[in-house]
Amino acid sequence: VGGVTISRDEVVKEEDPTNNVPDTIFSKIGMQLHKRPDHPLGILKNVIYNHFDERYPGLFHKFDDLSPIVSIKENFDDVLVPSDHVSRSYNDTYYINSETVLRCHTSAHQGQMLRDGYTHFLVSGDVYRRDAIDATHYPIFHQMEGFRVFTPNEWEKAGLDGTTLAANELKETLEGLAKRLFGNVETRWTDSYFPFTDPSYELEIFFKEKWLEVLGCGVTKQEILTDNGQGGKTAWAFGLGLERLAMVLFDIPDIRLFWSSDPRFTAQFTAGQLGIKFKPFSKFPPCYKDISFWISDAFTENNLCEVVRGIAGDLVEEVSLIDKFTNKKGMTSHCYRITYRSMERSLTDDEINFFQANVREEAQKKLNVILR
Ligand code: PHE
Repeated sequence: VGGVTISRDEVVKEEDPTNNVPDTIFSKIGMQLHKRPDHPLGILKNVIYNHFDERYPGLFHKFDDLSPIVSIKENFDDVLVPSDHVSRSYNDTYYINSETVLRCHTSAHQGQMLRDGYTHFLVSGDVYRRDAIDATHYPIFHQMEGFRVFTPNEWEKAGLDGTTLAANELKETLEGLAKRLFGNVETRWTDSYFPFTDPSYELEIFFKEKWLEVLGCGVTKQEILTDNGQGGKTAWAFGLGLERLAMVLFDIPDIRLFWSSDPRFTAQFTAGQLGIKFKPFSKFPPCYKDISFWISDAFTENNLCEVVRGIAGDLVEEVSLIDKFTNKKGMTSHCYRITYRSMERSLTDDEINFFQANVREEAQKKLNVILR
C-alpha cells in the first residue's frame, strides 16, 4: 500500500462470500491522513513522535506506512486474542477473505516487529472496525502503538523485578505524554483487560469536568516475547486512538470532519501547531428519517450501518435505535432514527428522500428484514 490506493479487484476474488469489505472502505484505504503534516492527525502524530525523540533520543523506531492488510495470525493470533473473541467476528472486523483482514488495531504489528528484531518502536496507521454510526465512531480511524522491551540487566540495575520496572516506566512515560499534550491535567490509572497484556491499564485525564479515557496499555504477556524471539525479557505496550485525542485537542465536533477536503476545514490547521481550536464554519440543519422493520435472526446494527453508509456515505451522522419490541408471535421490531447532515452544505429534501428510499430497499434486500 504505502500511500497508494488499492482497488477492490486487486485483492478480492469476484463474489467471494468471505469478503465483507464494501467499496466505501476500499476507496479510503491508502489515504494515510496521519502522514499529512498539516492535518490534525498528522500534527498530533508528529508531536507524539517528538515527545519520544526528546525523551529517548534515537531509541524508538517509527513506522507509519505498514500495510493495513494483515493476516488473521498477525491481527489476532500473534497477540493472543482467543479464538472465540467477538473481535474476530464478521460483524466486528473487515475480512478481505478468510485469511486476511483489515487490521482492527496497530497491535497487529507487534509479532512481526519483534520477529524482525525491533525492541523499541512506534507504529502509526489506519485501523478498521465495523461499528455503529455516531459523531465519534467511523469505520476507519487511526492508532499509534508503542512498544518497549527491557533486558534483565535493566531491571537488576534498578533493583526491581521485570514487570515492576516495565509497569513503572510505562506509567511515567505516558503520564509525561499526557501532560505534553494536555498541559497540567490531572491523570488517573484504571485497571483494564487486553488479551496481550497483564497487568493492563487505561489512562484517563480530567478534562472539561469529566474523566476521559485516552489510551490502553500494559505489560506484555511473556508468551508474546517468547514466541517472537525475545524470551527472558519484559516489555510494555500501549495503543492510543489519534482521532479521540485530536477531537479533544483541536475541538473537532464530528469524526467525519477528519475526512473532509473542504478548505474551510483543512486550512485551519498548521504543521507543528497543537494549540489551534477548530472554528465550525457553519452548522447545517440535520434531517431525521425513521425506518421500522421486523428483524431476522441474523440482523445486526453494524450491518444496517454499513447499508446506510453505502448509500449516504459521510452524509449520515448517526443511526440510533429509538424503539424495539417483540409481539405475541415472537417477532421483534426495531425502529432506527437516521440523522442525515452534511458538514459542508444544506441537503435538499429530494436528496434525503432518495437516500431513505434506497436505504429501505437495500435493508430489505440485504438484511432480510420486513419493512413495516
Ligand atoms: N490494541 C488495543 C486496542 O485497540 C490497545 C492496546 C495496545 C492495549 C497495546 C494494550 C497494549 O484497544
